[in-house]
Amino acid sequence: MGRQGRKRYLVGPVSELAPGQSRKFMLRIAGVDEECFLINVDGRLHAYVNRCRHIPLPMDWVDNQFFTEDCSYLMCQTHGALFVPETGECVAGPGNSCGKRLFRVPLEVEGGLIYALPPAVAPEPGLEPS
Ligand code: FES
Repeated sequence: MGRQGRKRYLVGPVSELAPGQSRKFMLRIAGVDEECFLINVDGRLHAYVNRCRHIPLPMDWVDNQFFTEDCSYLMCQTHGALFVPETGECVAGPGNSCGKRLFRVPLEVEGGLIYALPPAVAPEPGLEPS
């Protein structure tokens, strides 16, 4: 159980995720196994469901590639939508993706280990931020 009294899932040690790196993991959300990804942004950790806000496709058709080359943004590999890593907000992209956010996965860090907490609400149909 996590500090919030919810079941949590071990993602991995903090020491294995350097700034600018990402790591995918599976998380059961509202009874459905969802692929998610964890990122390290200058030492701060964030996690999101691996699903673009343009079309609900995985962000990384090149496996585990989420950051732009300069690590300024997360980029969907399908049509190039850009997301702010710290907030998950889409700031450039096709269709009506701008202004929408990736579906955040809450994290806890304890004893050098990263845990993910399943959001209480499933990411479909709205993919609204938690
Ligand atoms: S599916 Fe991500 S930009 Fe189109």
